[in-house]
Amino acid sequence: MSTKSEITRYLLIGLETAPFLTLIELRGKSMSALLKGIIKTALLAFATLNLAACLPEVELSELEQDQEETPSFVETNGKILSLPNTTFDYVSYAETNLPQHFLSGDDSAINHDNSPDHNPISNTGATLGRVLFYDDALSINDAVSCASCHKQNTGFTDEAVLSEGFQGGLTGRHSMSLANNRFYGSGHFFWDERADTLEDQVLMPIQDDIEMGMTLDTLVIKLTQLDYYPELFFNAFGSEDITTERISLALAQFTRAMVSYQSKYDDALVSASTSNISENDLSHVLSHDEEAGRKLFELLPAEGGFGCGGCHSTVAQITNAPHNIGLDTTNMDEGAGNGEFKVPSLRNVEVSAPYMHDGRFEKLEDVINHYNNGIQDNPDLSPFLRNPVTGEPARFNMSKKEKHQLKAFLKALTDDHFLNSDLFSNPFQSDS
Ligand code: HEC
Ligand code: HEC
Repeated sequence: MSTKSEITRYLLIGLETAPFLTLIELRGKSMSALLKGIIKTALLAFATLNLAACLPEVELSELEQDQEETPSFVETNGKILSLPNTTFDYVSYAETNLPQHFLSGDDSAINHDNSPDHNPISNTGATLGRVLFYDDALSINDAVSCASCHKQNTGFTDEAVLSEGFQGGLTGRHSMSLANNRFYGSGHFFWDERADTLEDQVLMPIQDDIEMGMTLDTLVIKLTQLDYYPELFFNAFGSEDITTERISLALAQFTRAMVSYQSKYDDALVSASTSNISENDLSHVLSHDEEAGRKLFELLPAEGGFGCGGCHSTVAQITNAPHNIGLDTTNMDEGAGNGEFKVPSLRNVEVSAPYMHDGRFEKLEDVINHYNNGIQDNPDLSPFLRNPVTGEPARFNMSKKEKHQLKAFLKALTDDHFLNSDLFSNPFQSDS
């Protein structure tokens, strides 16, 4: 193993009292919690003292030399980074090839696109974002990456009710699925919408005390130590400079590229539009139960449906504003205020259990039962979920068959292509 990769195994840690730098191996995940605590404190002190200028020059020149090799396999930190020689085409996938049903109509998903003009998706930017997303170097002790809590096979959420952060602590809420969040019109992120933009959001887990435990200064220093980043930053932004702004832009590009549009439901809409079939009848592709479920989902109660599409709107089934759906009589968590929560897109909901901001429902049946007869008379309950005549919480009296049909439709939103696409898969392989 080369000196360079050996060096990348270490973080340089400055101690307040010491005029010299101490090398401490940070890889051992079996380190005692006490030792981890000490290292974390030391790292924070290091970042504060801004001792970056003291990094030995030999390392930097070694890193630069590495650039000329343009390797597609780089061994580092016990991981192998494997990227295609030509970058994946995120622009075609997420922009050019978006199907017509995402683009047409006044209330089309694209009209709710929260992509800012200053950060369009580029192939090299999203590629950098993909590496960052899967790199456990983004957490202070190399214990977790974004993908630890946002797993591709579960629609980029976590099968755990609460996710484990870098020291095993649990997150305050259930992880969120990431597909199609580009079409959440207000552009706010998190269940309680506390991030104003996706560019703001992606830096927040990194600095979260439970999730990744880093400071942004430490992050930049850490990434500078890894031999694969200079080239990736150069390709994406025209120079090798690693800055928190560039990290944020690249992660946001990768996340926005996660558009899910190849479910059976999408196939039905695509073939309807290409063969001049009305979008009101998708039974040429959907099964009888799926089509009946779609109508129950989309039609208003006055039209014989359950009005789900009033909130889970557009073809991406995503809301533009948070709502209180009467999970409890009084709010256990105020969310965005008044117990209101953002709803992620329902694409891939079949595989993204458990459900809701607190992961309280294990199965789709539990969710359907909640809407059917479990809605609580919470003072902040959305008027959409009240009986317009009596003002009482809605009771849909769904038959067994209707519940089955609704579930069949929700399952038709599973996009296996997206869940298995290389574009969004882990570029690192473990060599151990
Ligand atoms: C330890 C687990 C964990 C890690 C690590 C983590 N997340 Fe999350 N993520 C969550 C949880 C939990 C939420 C919901 C938190 C809330 O709303 O209060 C969330 C929410 C989000 C959202 C909001 C989605 C929406 O529709 O509003 C995005 C985007 C996101 N994470 C991206 C990332 C990125 C990018 C990283 C890596 C830099 C990351 N996450 C790391 C657990 C994690
Ligand atoms: C008033 C708006 C509204 C209506 C109407 C509505 N929903 Fe929801 N839905 C939400 C919100 C908000 C959440 C997230 C709530 C939370 O986590 O506290 C949600 C969550 C869900 C989830 C879980 C998503 C996840 O990833 O955890 C499913 C599934 C779902 N709704 C299906 C339906 C179905 C089926 C109907 C119709 C019977 C429906 N919704 C009607 C607003 C609504």
